[in-house]
Amino acid sequence: MTTVENTGKIKKIAVLTSGGDAPGMNAVIRAVVRTAKHFGLEVLGVKRGYDGLLSGDVFDMHEKSVSDIIHKGGTILLTARSSEMRTEEGQKKAANICNILGIDALVVIGGDGSITGGLKLARLGVNVIGIPATIDLDLDCSEYTIGFDTAVNTAMEAINKIRDTSFSHERCSVVEVMGRNSGEIALWCAMTCGAEEVLIPENPIEHDIIIAEIFKNRAKGKRHHLVIVAEGSGHTEEFAKKIEQVTGIETRASILGYLQRGGSPTAMDRRLGSLMGYKAVESLINGEKNRIVVIKNNDYKTIDIEEGLNQESTYSNKTYDIIKILSV
Ligand code: F6P
Repeated sequence: MTTVENTGKIKKIAVLTSGGDAPGMNAVIRAVVRTAKHFGLEVLGVKRGYDGLLSGDVFDMHEKSVSDIIHKGGTILLTARSSEMRTEEGQKKAANICNILGIDALVVIGGDGSITGGLKLARLGVNVIGIPATIDLDLDCSEYTIGFDTAVNTAMEAINKIRDTSFSHERCSVVEVMGRNSGEIALWCAMTCGAEEVLIPENPIEHDIIIAEIFKNRAKGKRHHLVIVAEGSGHTEEFAKKIEQVTGIETRASILGYLQRGGSPTAMDRRLGSLMGYKAVESLINGEKNRIVVIKNNDYKTIDIEEGLNQESTYSNKTYDIIKILSV
């Protein structure tokens, strides 16, 4: 049994999900609500992220409000990308609403943009704790963001199927996976599906170089080809057409899109979502202010929200290099 005690400083929290939905968000919500109730807190659920906060769309949550959700994709709280929250006026209004509602702390479940919104509120005096949840795995302060594992496995399974048809027709398949500014899904898919090439925003490569390599590999006897493109690198359809034109190899493009954002979360997303949700409330009960829950060295902890959001990317080409060595 836990030894944490509620000192009584925090009485009411609110929880919202914001930005792109991610599988496992429901496990986080469940853990936040149930841990908070365990410690005797009031919990408000905020609908549609910051948009719901700005319009006061909140409701009381209890242990039973989160029954039967741990296995479900999406977010029961709904989500949005709020343009109003990007303005100073919107941020002040949101902070004011938190005061009016008597919210002692706001739990923000989302990606970089959503937690940055939380930081703006923190600067206006609202106690905020962020929980990284995005399929993109693009928060540099945390080794993991909820939703990534499910998304990668969904994409990998889809690519396995594309590989079967690519093999049968001796074609080149160019598959675009999600990730506007981040190549993590693409890198993982490339490695786990044995792709020949991967294009990511962090490591831009000229299309002509990749095309020359495909041509060379075909000449060496390779009968089908797989290229993974991160959404942020773009132009997937045009790229596929160009490969066909230049090499004469039949080439097809597939854009996996939103199927990567849905589906029942994997055990990893449910487990880490539960632990991170618990940790957020424990941190608030312990009197911590303006934190972000992160995974570091396989352990979960909290760090200062501003420090977390300012961390530099640790991207290195190592994974890319290994993919290339293994794909020969
Ligand atoms: O949430 C992450 C993400 O799926 C990115 O990979 C993608 O670029 C973006 O969201 C799409 O956002 P929207 O749902 O607003 O189209």
